[in-house]
Amino acid sequence: MKFPLKSSPFSSVLFTCLTIVFFSASCRRTDVCPTCNGTTKDSLTPWEFGLRPQFADIDTSFDSTPKDNPTTVEGADLGRYLFYDVRLSANNTVACASCHKQEYAFADNVQFSKGFDGGHTARNSMSIVNMRWQKKFFWDGRANSLEEQALMPIQDHIEMGMNLDDLVPKLQAIDIYPPKFEAAFGSSKVTADRIGKAIAQFVRTIVSQNSKFDDAFGMPEGKVKHLLTDEEFLGYKLFIKHINPDNGSGKNMPGTANRGANCGDCHKTALMTNSMFTSNGLDSVTTDPGYGKISGLPQFDGTFKTPTLRNIELTAPYMHDGRFNTLEEVIEHYDSHVQDHPNLDVQISAAGNNFPGRLDLTDEEKRALVAFLKTLTDHQLITDPKYASPF
Ligand code: HEC
Ligand code: HEC
Repeated sequence: MKFPLKSSPFSSVLFTCLTIVFFSASCRRTDVCPTCNGTTKDSLTPWEFGLRPQFADIDTSFDSTPKDNPTTVEGADLGRYLFYDVRLSANNTVACASCHKQEYAFADNVQFSKGFDGGHTARNSMSIVNMRWQKKFFWDGRANSLEEQALMPIQDHIEMGMNLDDLVPKLQAIDIYPPKFEAAFGSSKVTADRIGKAIAQFVRTIVSQNSKFDDAFGMPEGKVKHLLTDEEFLGYKLFIKHINPDNGSGKNMPGTANRGANCGDCHKTALMTNSMFTSNGLDSVTTDPGYGKISGLPQFDGTFKTPTLRNIELTAPYMHDGRFNTLEEVIEHYDSHVQDHPNLDVQISAAGNNFPGRLDLTDEEKRALVAFLKTLTDHQLITDPKYASPF
């Protein structure tokens, strides 16, 4: 499918563009044409996302794709090469994919990832699936678009250590790239802006929507029960249910009807996150200000981006500092180790899983929660050739 040629704003752009071509004969080959910056080029093929129904509402309400960088087959192809190319680092050793590995749902399997010069990142690498529907990036939300984000690790002194002024001529001189920039942006010229745009396009194509639980999103409880094992279903119920502090004892008594672990207010929708910056009570005293520093607001001191729980089985270690090695340790945290930080989220404090109330989950319930979390693993994603290295 091509971009529609009949829509009137588009055809007037095309008309202007063609007029300029007629007079200057240079529209496609230089960057001077103001209206045909590549993204309105009629030979571009829109990327077919093939979204499943659980993403229909999400796509209309949360899509953050900028107007000047639609996702195209040509742009994503270039972006995939750049994502996997170690030549984007100062000493040709580290690519984006070194810390965002497909087999681990595009996260890393170590607490802190190794940069180009042997140094380690200050935080745990994040799984970068379904980024198309996020607006702020990194644990502390310091990037406001994927285009901006993509250029940050390249220049980071620990991660890839590359200067953009050096990277542009470096890529321009590698034979595969000029034709790919031409295909994606209408001219073979490499620019930092285009590098960011192409990588962002590829990252947007990484959609995780084929886990076992994907058949269950938005389904009535009877249907969900049918799709899951008894243990997974028990975990699911605990996950989505608030505990009821008014059940007589003020506690979340085993065997009561309102038993819950209260996870689904923050880890919610098919994205499995509310994309908000919250404190889940890891520490009572702030060690890393997180979004507090970026926003400058004291109420966000010590808060971090609520991460997706998709593919969580594959993305250990856990939390912004990778402090937990297993899902069992994570459940222990929420069950009985939540710390009383001043910004501890009300979804946790009012729900009663910090002192003096604990979740008091039984061993069976803890196992059930872990079993449910494993239904979020997308095996197709981690072997899909369209996300794999092109080299
Ligand atoms: C040396 C390891 C390393 C390399 C190389 C690296 N990253 Fe990351 N990435 C991380 C870490 C660590 C974080 C979290 C950092 C933080 O929040 O402070 C992260 C976070 C991200 C996020 C934010 C995800 C979210 O949910 O907000 C995106 C997107 C991302 N990286 C994409 C990329 C791209 C694209 C490249 C290549 C241009 C890249 N990364 C290179 C380690 C790396
Ligand atoms: C108040 C919102 C909130 C609630 C409620 C909540 N979480 Fe979280 N969760 C977060 C935040 C924020 C983080 C990241 C914290 C950090 O790294 O500082 C997180 C991290 C996680 C992680 C690690 C993710 C990763 O990629 O490292 C897992 C697993 C998890 N939560 C599971 C759960 C479970 C299970 C429950 C219910 C028992 C739950 N969460 C309840 C906000 C919440």
